[in-house]
Parts: sequence; C-alpha cells; structure tokens
Amino acid sequence: CGIMGYTGYRQALPLLLEGLKRLEYRGYDSAGVAVLEEGSLFLQKKAGKIAVLEACLNGFCPSGKAGIGHTRWATHGAPCDHNAHPHLDCRGEVAVVHNGIIENYASLRAELVKRGHRFLSETDTEVIPHLLEEAYEGDLLSTLRKVLPRLHGSYALAALSVREPGRLVVARRDSPLVLGLGEGENFLASDIPALLPYTRRTYILEDGELAEIWPDGIKVYDAAGRPLEKKVFHVKWDAAAAEKAPYPHFMLKEIHEQPRALRDTLRGRIEGGRVVFPELEEAAFHLRECRRLFLTACGTAFHAGLVGKYLLEKLARLPVEADIASEFRYRDLTLGPGDVVLVISQSGETADTLAALRLAKEKGAKVLAITNVVGSSVAREADWVLYTWAGPEIAVASTKAYTAQVLLVTLLALYLAELRGTLPSEEIIPLVEEVKFLPERVAQVLAWEEEIARLAQALKEQEHFFFIGRGLDWAVAEEGALKLKEISYIHAEAYPAGELKHGTLALITEGVPVVALATQSHLFEKMLSNIKEVKARGAWVLALTADDQAVAGETDVCFHLPPGNPLLMPAVAVVPLQLLAYYVAVARGCDVDQPRNLAKSVTVE
Ligand code: G6P
Repeated sequence: CGIMGYTGYRQALPLLLEGLKRLEYRGYDSAGVAVLEEGSLFLQKKAGKIAVLEACLNGFCPSGKAGIGHTRWATHGAPCDHNAHPHLDCRGEVAVVHNGIIENYASLRAELVKRGHRFLSETDTEVIPHLLEEAYEGDLLSTLRKVLPRLHGSYALAALSVREPGRLVVARRDSPLVLGLGEGENFLASDIPALLPYTRRTYILEDGELAEIWPDGIKVYDAAGRPLEKKVFHVKWDAAAAEKAPYPHFMLKEIHEQPRALRDTLRGRIEGGRVVFPELEEAAFHLRECRRLFLTACGTAFHAGLVGKYLLEKLARLPVEADIASEFRYRDLTLGPGDVVLVISQSGETADTLAALRLAKEKGAKVLAITNVVGSSVAREADWVLYTWAGPEIAVASTKAYTAQVLLVTLLALYLAELRGTLPSEEIIPLVEEVKFLPERVAQVLAWEEEIARLAQALKEQEHFFFIGRGLDWAVAEEGALKLKEISYIHAEAYPAGELKHGTLALITEGVPVVALATQSHLFEKMLSNIKEVKARGAWVLALTADDQAVAGETDVCFHLPPGNPLLMPAVAVVPLQLLAYYVAVARGCDVDQPRNLAKSVTVE
C-alpha cells in the first residue's frame, strides 16, 4: 500500500492525489483521501485506480490544507469502496490510513463491537480509528502512543482529527514511512518518489518512532514520548528519475536505463584489476572464514541470487544454499554463528525477506544485504550492505534492479575469490577487467528492440511458453519466464534443459514456443541436443547464444549475444527476454507497469 499526507498552506487534495499516483506501484486496487475542513472531514474513497477516484471527485476540490491519502493493495477484505482507506471512527472525527497488517484485529474488533462500535469495512485497519476514539483525551499524538501497544503486527500509519486542525500524526513498525520537510508545509509518504516534486529533505522514520507533522515543523518521538533529534536525509535522485518520460511505460524506461544503472553500480568498485568493497572491511573476517553461504530473496531478486549461487560456488568455492525467503523463514534451519546469509531485495522492504533477515540475525548469523534503497529496512538491519545504484524502480516488473543485482553478485564472487584465495590473480584480473564492458554489451543488445517488437507481434496469441537453459542459463531462463508471466499473463515455465525429458517434454507440441538459452560454452553441446529434442516435437524455437556455433540451423530465430566470458552472460542475456516480455505484453494490451494482482513492494506476508 502507499500513504501520502500533507499539511501546509496549499489545498491538500491535488498534492495528495499527485503523491498517491507516484506510489501506485505499491498497490492500486483502491484509493481514498481525507481532508480536514473547518470543523469537519471531507472523505472520498473508491475501488480501482487513482484515476477512478479522480473521476469521482469530478474536479471538486475541498478547501482544506491538511489531509491524508492511501492507495491500497488488499490484504484483509476485498478491494471495494468501503474497504478503501481512510477509515473513520464512529463520530467521523478521526481518519486513519495504514499500511501493514494488524494481526490481532479480530479480537480487538469483537471487543470494540461489544462496547458499541459500528464497523463499516472488513479491514484490519478500521480498529485503529475506533481505538483512538475511545482513548482520546484532546491530544491525538499521546492517544496514538497509548493505542499502539494494543496493535500486534506491522504498520505505517497516519491519522488526523477534526479537533486538531493542521496536525497529522504518524507511527511506524515494520512498514516504511518517510517524512518530507518543506517551507511552511510538510509531508509524509511511504516512499521517496512521492515527495520528490516537493522536497529532497527527509526524515526516515524508524521502527517504534512516532511523529507529529505541522505546517511549520515536524517533531519525532520515541515510543516513550521522548523527543528525538533526527538527521536530515538528502535525496540525491533526480526528480525526473522517478518519472517515465519519454517512454510510454516505466518498464521500458527502466530497461533502457540498464547501461547507466550498471555503470553507476560499478563506479568505484574496480581498481587495478581488483574488486574493492570498502563497505565490507569489517565483514572480511567472516566472509573469509565462513564454510557456506545462505542466500535468500523473493521474486526477481531471488533469480539474481541464483546467478550468484553459481558464481560464488564456481569462483569463491563457497557452497551456497539458495532459498526463497518465504520458505527460508519457516524451515527448521541449521544456521548459527559463523554462518553468513546474503539477502537480496530491490526495495529493502519485502516482508518475507525482512523476516528471513531477522531470523538469521536471531540465530546468530551475520547478514550481508544487497539492496537498491538507501535507508530501507533491509539496509538498516543487515550487518553489511552493498547498494545497487539502479535508482528508483517504478515498474512492478523488475529489470534494472535485477541486472544491477546480477552485477553485484558477480563482483562479490570475484571479491571473495581473492579474499579466500580460491582463484589466482591471473584468472581474476581478466574477468574483473571484462566486467567493465557489461554496460556496453547491454547497450548493444538494446539495439535489437525493433526486431524483438516485431517478433512479439507474431507471438502475442500464444498461451504457453517454455524457457530452457543449463547452469547460469537456467537461472536467466527463470527470470525470462517470470517477466513474461507477470506482465503478459502468458503461462511461462522455465526448466533446466536436461530435466525436460522427465515430464515437460510431454507438453511440447506443434508450434509451442520454446526460448532456449545456450550461452554457456561447456554446456553448449548438451543444449544443442535439447534444442533438437524440442524441435523434433514441433516446437518453435528462439535461441540466445553467444557462440556462432551451429545453433542457427536448428532454430527458428537465433540471437547472437556479444561474445565474452560465459560467466558474465546473465546480465546481457536477460535483456532480450525483458524486451520480449515487454513487447508481448504491449501487443496484448496489458497494463505493463501495473500488472493485475501484483505489487512492487510486498510489505505484508
Ligand atoms: C514483488 C515484485 C517483484 C520483486 C519481488 C521482490 O513481488 O513484484 O518484482 O522481485 O517483490 O522484491 P524486492 O524489493 O525484495 O526485490
């Protein structure tokens, strides 16, 4: 979900809507706003995207200069008008927007109903305004402080009361919240892009902190009510970086930003043929001594992790156990002091990944994180952090964050190879030097865009796709299939090519599209046999290869990637697959940036 709040000298509504639009990637099944008017509250909420809410307002703008808004991704209760936030108390005096989950809401609600409260929604959030109403003694902030211990679960929440004009109060636990500092006006939001048009000066709220926001200032307190001195965090991103122009979709823009994202992520990290990570100075001992590495993440970040698994094992001779975060956190893990867990997360806020991180720390392991968001929960809680400098990623389907993650795990493997003495420098140096060419190679592949767009037109009616590969190519195939699934709604599956014959081959019939990755020279002959196997069953084969070996004759379409070391292929090979997914989705008329049922940042379990 996304939250936006404003208090200042301007009419609040247009700013709330603008901020919410920039947060739509956090969830977009319903939206709502509450604006403080003289002695009353203006409330409007609607199922659907923010455009639906705007249409319903039909140009009307309340005069109020303080308000809160929300864009929702349903957890408790279906996406419909009455479940949309903000939620109010019985008297309609207190309004609340909330991101997170109140786990004990059912018992709180039963208790409140017994005392005469009436509920209008099925949400967990609605208990909060009712609890505030009961505890209210003239000061919303101290009331909130009193109520918070009753809430189990996670929240970033903002509240206002008609009795306290101009004042917004907020609290956070396990869900992100950022405060924006203006002149004569102040802001709150779940994420920085919403604040960028107005300010670059922010306070990043920590777990357990509360704040009151007035037009002329913000005060932050700890859970006990003691005032805190917050450090201002200056956002360095360009405002334009958070907007999609001149591309029709954020996803396409982000695909094209990859050479830049890779260059930024490389910056300062290669010196004299060596990888340098000053961030890992204190980690060096643990990374040298550890006997194995655990790796955990969700979605696309997990696929980058799979690439890392192969490279870390190959180069740093480190056994890697890779597991999806939602599995990792519920396994009875044999994990403890001496172990290192690598956590990868674009947003740094994914609930399962964060829970896995916390579990690892609880068990005494050290956590190394790769994330794209400075100040995110993952960044703050990990022992050591490596940042991908991909810039804000808005499209739900991750592209530039993935390639930047792949680059970082590659650098990490090379760094550890040196640190652990598993590879002689004669072998490390040429690889490190070659890494510098990745941005250029990605740019070369981007030039295939038109050809891929034409191909996508021809493939748009297909309902099933298979992606096959071996070794690193299989890891990339997983990401290619995910991209296609999430944005074009085509059923796509990735398989280790050698596994086809154990079941999936039964699904290969006349005309079924198979994308075959064959960039790994030591596995090339094996892949060729697999390609022949699917061709013999009538498959339509699109191959990606780095060699000019005899694939072309065996396939329907073949793309030759710029030549290079097979270990460095993933960041390049994924790019045509991203473009294919994008253009197929566009050809099918799908909502590329905001696919159905998905959210960019899944901050609930
Ligand atoms: C969501 C997004 C995916 C992303 C995954 C993990 O499912 O839709 O694109 O890969 O979360 O997100 P993270 O921010 O932890 O990398």
